Amino acid sequence: MKKILDLISEEMQKGFEQAGYAGELGRVTLSNRPDLCEYQCNGAMAGAKQYKKAPLLIAQDVAAVLQESEVFSEVSAVAPGFLNLKVRESFLTAYIKEMRSSEKFGLEEPKEPKKVVIDYGGPNIAKPLHVGHLRSAVIGESVKRILRYCGHEVIGDIHLGDWGQPLGLVITELRERQPDLVYFDETYTGEYPKEAPFTIAELEEMYPTASKKSKEDAEYKARAMEVTFKMQSGVRGYRAVWEQILKVSIADLKKNYDRLNVEFDLWKGESDVHELIPDMVEAMKRDGYAHESEGALVVDVKEESDVKEVPPCMILKSDGAALYNTTDLATILDRMNNIHPDEMIYFTDKRQELYFEQVFRCARKTKLVKPETELIWIGFGTMNGKDGKPFKTRDGGVMRLEMLLQETIDEMYRKITENREMSHEEAAQTAQTIALSALKYGDLSNQASKDYIFDMERFTSFEGDTGPYILYTIVRIKSILAKYAEQGGKIEAAALSDTESESEKALVMQLTAFNAAMENACAEIAPHKVCAYIYDLANAFNRFYHETKILAEENEERKAGLIALLVLTRDVLEACIDVLGFSAPERM
Ligand code: ARG
Repeated sequence: MKKILDLISEEMQKGFEQAGYAGELGRVTLSNRPDLCEYQCNGAMAGAKQYKKAPLLIAQDVAAVLQESEVFSEVSAVAPGFLNLKVRESFLTAYIKEMRSSEKFGLEEPKEPKKVVIDYGGPNIAKPLHVGHLRSAVIGESVKRILRYCGHEVIGDIHLGDWGQPLGLVITELRERQPDLVYFDETYTGEYPKEAPFTIAELEEMYPTASKKSKEDAEYKARAMEVTFKMQSGVRGYRAVWEQILKVSIADLKKNYDRLNVEFDLWKGESDVHELIPDMVEAMKRDGYAHESEGALVVDVKEESDVKEVPPCMILKSDGAALYNTTDLATILDRMNNIHPDEMIYFTDKRQELYFEQVFRCARKTKLVKPETELIWIGFGTMNGKDGKPFKTRDGGVMRLEMLLQETIDEMYRKITENREMSHEEAAQTAQTIALSALKYGDLSNQASKDYIFDMERFTSFEGDTGPYILYTIVRIKSILAKYAEQGGKIEAAALSDTESESEKALVMQLTAFNAAMENACAEIAPHKVCAYIYDLANAFNRFYHETKILAEENEERKAGLIALLVLTRDVLEACIDVLGFSAPERM
């Protein structure tokens, strides 16, 4: 379906042409004075010079030919030459009728659907998820869903940190504690046990312990380097224990991401591209891109137009070890060979900006990607506490993601059981659903690059620009629809009809902006645009609701029209929260 503003602009263009002016002057926008009109056109102002005529006269000519328009109920020329517009109810009704019967409410398929890999989440094996991982997961998941909804082919890849020094440290610590484990007996040739010799809690405790020791004790550090080497070069027992760590850690990660309603298509990690590195490095040397610098192997990536220094991209350390860079480059190579994406989008903390600049430049220069392959990095800001500093636990520690989620669920549970009867089971389930909306909407409603303050009280409020407010609106609609059905009404058969009040028309106008809002969020990779859209939509709905008799309406046909409007509003809201990655309960 065409966008509503395009349809209105087309009508306005016809008006300009019929009045003897250039059609392209007829560009219509949403009114910035909603008290005066619904839409506006400033084309007469722009045309004044060209036609050497007062803008008001041009506007009057155009207004005159549009008096009988099927789109406009009002076209008025006002000084100094604006065209103030109101649209006909019948025009809007026809539009939302078509929305209701079209797939995805008339959102058009992209002219050129793209194949996109989204690299998000990025957790590290054997380390707990903390709040820093929340944003990547929440934003990446939403962008994946928005792009998919808009008709692109999207593959979400978690890109696990599963290969580097941290793993070596954990294995070292395990060996210190349980040196007799069969994994460390290099003469052993039998099968290794199925059960892991540790729990997730032990794993998570081992990494910080080992990391601390290696900083304080040079010998420990040397042992850890050796263990890392054994693991990476494939010494059987070390590789087998690494696999156990992966298994236990991934099971725990899956549980956590499940709770966040975040799902990855690919659970690939740094380790998966390990074997591609030697050939990739060889080719970079052979083609003259990589050269030695102070013992290390680097690719220069600075460009003449640089205003700040962009250091070379390091491919191998002086001891020959691969780096974070190297795995990212090899991952790009792997994706190009096996997935053939048109675009790769990465979501990480803002602080990795220079890093990705280097990696992307290196990938282009060394021709790992095609000239037309788009590499996009989106850096997000920090989630801060009320003190404006990175969010911490009450005692100043790093906040684990599951703790934050649990605290939000507890707060939501308290709120919904405060003055209402609800079984514990239902309340617990509902609290979880609403808590997710609070966390995700609180994050997504901000432009990704900005820092934001995690404010439990504000995020969990049922009023204002929050997830719970959106859900509350949806639940309100669902409860009216349920009552209508109880009274024998047929919801699906209810037909949309012309609006009869100003608030109802405002709601319909907001609905008609759906495709433009969604397309824009997709084009700009900006979930906050979906949030802004549904916040306006929820506000428009609630104003209409407070001013309108719905179930008490006596005229059955009119009542059915209102019900149909509710259905469409619910469906649009639910489609939007689905792309944001959360859902609404039946009651709350
Ligand atoms: N594992 C990394 C970290 O915790 C994030 C990975 C981001 N993605 C990437 N392709 N480098 O910092």
